[in-house]
Amino acid sequence: MNTKSALLFPTDFTWGAATSSYQIEGAWDEDGKGESIWDRFSHTLGKIANGDSGDSACDYYHRWRSDVALMKEIGLNAYRFSISWPRVLPKGRGDVSRDGLDFYDRLVDALLEADIKPYVTLYHWDLPQCLQEEGGWPSRTIITAFSEYADLVSCTLGDRVKSWITLNEPYVSAFIGYLEGRHAPGHTNLHEALEASHHLLLAHGQAVQIIRNNCPNTKIGISLNLTPQTPASSSVADRDATRHADGMINRWFLDPLSGRGYPEDILRSYGDRMAFIQAGDMDKIATPLDFLGVNYYARNITRSSEVKEAENDPQTIFPIDEFTEMEWEVYPQGICQILKRLHGEYDFPAFYITENGAAFRDQISPTGQVEDPDRVSYIKRHLKMILEAIVSGVPVRGYFIWSLLDNFEWANGYSKRFGLIYVDFKTQQRILKTSAKWYQQVIRENSIILSTMKNLDQTTN
Ligand code: FCB
Repeated sequence: MNTKSALLFPTDFTWGAATSSYQIEGAWDEDGKGESIWDRFSHTLGKIANGDSGDSACDYYHRWRSDVALMKEIGLNAYRFSISWPRVLPKGRGDVSRDGLDFYDRLVDALLEADIKPYVTLYHWDLPQCLQEEGGWPSRTIITAFSEYADLVSCTLGDRVKSWITLNEPYVSAFIGYLEGRHAPGHTNLHEALEASHHLLLAHGQAVQIIRNNCPNTKIGISLNLTPQTPASSSVADRDATRHADGMINRWFLDPLSGRGYPEDILRSYGDRMAFIQAGDMDKIATPLDFLGVNYYARNITRSSEVKEAENDPQTIFPIDEFTEMEWEVYPQGICQILKRLHGEYDFPAFYITENGAAFRDQISPTGQVEDPDRVSYIKRHLKMILEAIVSGVPVRGYFIWSLLDNFEWANGYSKRFGLIYVDFKTQQRILKTSAKWYQQVIRENSIILSTMKNLDQTTN
């Protein structure tokens, strides 16, 4: 086997890119769209870097046709995007916005026309503000609202959309939104966060059943942010802290989705705070999935805060000295580790990498190019690790780069660029970065060892 064939991907592998509604659409109050918690949050002074908001973002609401043409130029065979709930149901439930639904309807048609499979995420964090005012995710009434929304969208698009993702990163919605307060709605209340996480999972389980019922022959999954946890030393304290962090971030979602209930050790640490769980909830959450979406960016090295530094063993594991603009360690092995673990310890029938990518300080050169060799290197090394997982038997079916376009990076505003496509947020000009051209060839050759563009391959094997 030569190197080239060794780095070939399976023939039916899906090559995609991902975005989310609030991060790209703009048009925050056009055509009857309702306010979302992210509109409210970003309009609140001091919440977002540089006072940015998603009001205009990439103006994709008006430019989606030319953006679909760029996707086609790159050669994507799939595109993951999310629906803005308040764009189709301005009050969260009840009256439907025809304009809102039509927007996604036309987008799906244009994608199919361009031979790009739509992967639709129902919820990527932009909850209708009205529903937040009724209590938001911590309130159990959200589940019926989400069911109504899932029913509406799957009935409208389900004749053409064959791949669905119910939720994006429920950990982030619940714990960053309701406990850390760095994301909308900006609350800092553990009880709310725990209720939110449970109701997100319940709403997910209910939505899986609704979509499956409305659209036969579809594949349904959920996207989780999964972070391998590594102890900073082999001390008991660090290993305990690592197990705990893994339980809170990874097992808290993986276990109930797999029918194991919440992990005992973490439940114990929450005392009686989960007493609100009702009979039948755990079965609903465990409604079988067709795939698990894995969002992977970096690992986490855990140092115990339970013992004093002087009493702990010296730290032996440190981040490798390579970081992205988000200050996230570049650790490609982590994606292989997490995939192998998921396949070994759980029963998910298939996996998609629904997000992976990196922010770097991209700039337009005097000749109008955007060269981003660090991103090419990042993606290439992660793809190599994914291939290693595939070769060892993990059923990974596809890969979505985060992100198609530079966009509104939540609390960081426009300061972090993740795109394959550079966006000038003043003029809305788009420029394909070198990574987009590199990815174009990866897709064409179904391999990461390319017959051309050797200059980009230099440091990255
Ligand atoms: C993920 C989010 C996505 C994007 C990337 C960088 O957690 O799902 O919207 O912000 O991080």
